[in-house]
Amino acid sequence: MRVDGKNKVMPAFTVTTSSTRYDAVVERGVLARVSSFLPAKLSRLFVVTTRDVWRHHGARLQAGLRDHSFEVLYFTGGEHRKRLAELEELAEQMVRLGADRASCLIGFGGGIVTDITGFLAAVFLRGIPVLQIPTTLLAQVDAGVGGKTGVNLRGGKNLLGAFHQPLAVLADPDVLATLPTREFRAGLYEVIKCGVIRDAALFADLATKALDVLAAKPAALDSAIAASVRIKCEVVTADEKEADLRRILNFGHTIGHALEAETGYQEFLHGEAIAFGMKAATHLAVSEKSLGAADGDRIIACIDAYGAIPPTRHIAAEALLARLGSDKKTLHGKVHFVLPTKIGETKIVNGIAREAIAAAIHAAHA
Ligand code: GLY
Repeated sequence: MRVDGKNKVMPAFTVTTSSTRYDAVVERGVLARVSSFLPAKLSRLFVVTTRDVWRHHGARLQAGLRDHSFEVLYFTGGEHRKRLAELEELAEQMVRLGADRASCLIGFGGGIVTDITGFLAAVFLRGIPVLQIPTTLLAQVDAGVGGKTGVNLRGGKNLLGAFHQPLAVLADPDVLATLPTREFRAGLYEVIKCGVIRDAALFADLATKALDVLAAKPAALDSAIAASVRIKCEVVTADEKEADLRRILNFGHTIGHALEAETGYQEFLHGEAIAFGMKAATHLAVSEKSLGAADGDRIIACIDAYGAIPPTRHIAAEALLARLGSDKKTLHGKVHFVLPTKIGETKIVNGIAREAIAAAIHAAHA
C-alpha cells in the first residue's frame, strides 16, 4: 500500500527483478491517468485490444491517454487465436504504421490479449516497452502481472513465449462491471488459487464472503483483487523466471492445461480449466497424504461455492494423462504437480503414479 499525492490510500504493489522495477496498481479509475505510466520519449503508441473491450472501455482509455496519439490494433479474441500467425499480422500492421524502437504497446484486454501483446513487445525489433491494462479479473490477478508472455502451439498452451516485464500493470476494478458473469467467475477461481497457495486469510475471506465477492461488492472484491496482485508481485519478485517459488502459481495448471488442450481451447475458459485442475490436485494431495482431508474438503467447497464449471465427464482421464507429457511443467520427462500441504502452503511433487492421477481426475469430475 502507498499514499498518493492526494493522501488517498491506493494499493500499488511492486515487482522487482534483476533488470527492472515496476508497479502493479489496483485502483478504481486508474485509466484516467494512464499517460503518466508511459515512457517520456515515445514515438508511436499502439493499443492492442478486442473490438468488445474497445467498445466498452475505449473512450475511457482514450481520455486517459490525453494528448498522446495512438493506433488501435484489433485482435480477434479466443485462446485458439493466440497463435504466432496472429502475432505476425499485428507486427506487420505496426511496421506499416511506422513503428520503431521508441514505440510502445499497450495490452488492453483479457489474458489472451496481455499474453500476445507482451510477446509482441518482447520480439518486435528485439524488444519494445509494453504497458499492461488487463480488463478481465483473471488477467488483473494473474496473466497481466509478472511478464510471462506467449502464444500457443497445436501441441500445448504457451509453448512459445518470453519473459518480458511491463512498464506497469494497471488494474481498474471498474472495468469488470461489463464482464460476463462466466468470465468473472473464471477469474475468481484464480483468486481462490492465490489463497490456497499463499494466503490462508485471503482463502478464509473468500470462503466466508463468497456472496459479496460474487455480487462484485467493492469492499469484498477490491481487497480480494489487491491481495491476489500483492501475492503475484511477491512471488515474481522472489523468482521471476520460475526456477523455484513461482511454480506455486501453477497450482491446478498441470491438469487444467491438459483439459484446455484436449478440448481445443474452446470448451472451457482458462479459469474454469484451472478450477477443475485445482480440484483434481486437491484430491491428489489428499490421496498422496500431502494434505489433510478436512483442508481438502474446505478447498473443494470453496471452489464449488463460486459456481459450477461446464461439464467435464465426457473427457476421459486417459486423454488428459496423455496430454501431461507435452506441458511446460514436464521436466526431464517427469510431470510435476503443485500440491497443497495446508491452506496457504504448497509443495512440488513429481513421480506420482498414473493410477493416482486418474483417480484424482475422476474425483474432480464428481
Ligand atoms: N500464471 C502463472 C505465472 O505467471 O507464473
